[in-house]
Amino acid sequence: MNVLLAGGAGYIGSHTCVELINAGHDVVIADNFSNSCPVAVERVEELTGRKIPLYEADVCDRDAVEKIFSENKIDAVIHFAGLKAVGESCEKPVEYYRNNIDSTLTLLEVMKKHGVNNFIFSSSATVYGTPEETVPLVETMPKGSPTNPYGWTKFMMEQILTDTANANPDMSVVLLRYFNPIGAHESGRIGEDPNGIPNNLMPYITQVAAGRLKCLGVFGNDYPTHDGTGVRDYIHVVDLAKGHVKAIEYSAEHKGTEIFNLGTGVGYSVLDIVKAFEKANSIEIPYVIKPRRAGDIAECFADATKAKKILGWIAEKNLEDMCRDSWNWQSHNVNGYK
Ligand code: NAD
Ligand code: UFG
Repeated sequence: MNVLLAGGAGYIGSHTCVELINAGHDVVIADNFSNSCPVAVERVEELTGRKIPLYEADVCDRDAVEKIFSENKIDAVIHFAGLKAVGESCEKPVEYYRNNIDSTLTLLEVMKKHGVNNFIFSSSATVYGTPEETVPLVETMPKGSPTNPYGWTKFMMEQILTDTANANPDMSVVLLRYFNPIGAHESGRIGEDPNGIPNNLMPYITQVAAGRLKCLGVFGNDYPTHDGTGVRDYIHVVDLAKGHVKAIEYSAEHKGTEIFNLGTGVGYSVLDIVKAFEKANSIEIPYVIKPRRAGDIAECFADATKAKKILGWIAEKNLEDMCRDSWNWQSHNVNGYK
């Protein structure tokens, strides 16, 4: 299939691009580089030996998206092009709603015009809201109330896409609810390159390891978890990328809306991650316990049975792989792509 990757220069998009090409698909990337840079696409080209059609375009810009569909025979769209920083979304809600929802609507409108009916969406475990005692999270559970505007954009876009598929019997929508992607391509050529001080745990740890940051702050050690620190379902980004290949192939054969958790089904605490990183890379990570971070939950991990049963997908890489590959990327690219 020829797949348009909206936001394909980003962390998950670039890894998905490699796996789609490895699986024999063609890709076109559209990205406005608001949180990425063209070097990531050059690195994907280097890894795959393929020239990738790349459009510097805002996917909220209807004319720009129209041009891409006119110049390429697109079979399916994967929509990664979202703003994703939870804290920033509380400060700039309008920008988040505008970018994330407008991009989705624009893609849907242009797809309809060109008779393209396959849409894969980057959703998030955040749509489950604040699970009290209900881990592991199963797709059949009702969505909860997200704790921030970013989460609400995912919640709303899931609804928009479901309604659109309900109205069009030819349409296939696959909602992929990611858990916590970490790691990098094993080559160390592509990886996560956050702007400024990282919000997320693994990039913070790798920047402490690289000497860019002094010490990790662990947000709370009084949660009802095995060591008091927050538990999450960390998934290797290459496994996550392979989940998109399965989703594209599923979407080619099925109509309607389907939701899949993409996680490992195993939860690790913050201190488990610190220890695993230290062991895998023989580097000590200094840390201090800080107060809980607003909006955080104690535990969040997936029931990943449905993706295994229906997509034939499971996460194959373990925590050691994730820690080794995260550091391999960061240590060879101390300042990311810059
Ligand atoms: P990322 O920021 O690295 O990638 C997003 C890409 O989209 C970037 O390259 C950015 O420049 C681009 N983009 C944003 N708005 C755009 C627009 N209007 N037009 C064109 N390009 C635009 O983030 P990521 O970690 O790769 O995440 C990809 C998707 O997965 C996002 O939608 C995110 O919300 C979702 N997601 C991520 C995580 C995570 O922890 N990384 C978890 C759950 C869901
Ligand atoms: N944490 C720290 N110190 C840090 C950063 C994080 O202790 O410097 C802790 C958090 O408190 C949490 C765990 O590490 O317990 C994971 O935090 P992340 O910020 O890495 O990830 P979250 O689970 O908070 O959120 C991520 C994405 C969201 C997405 C969610 C579910 O940032 O966008 O996973 O997919 F919605």
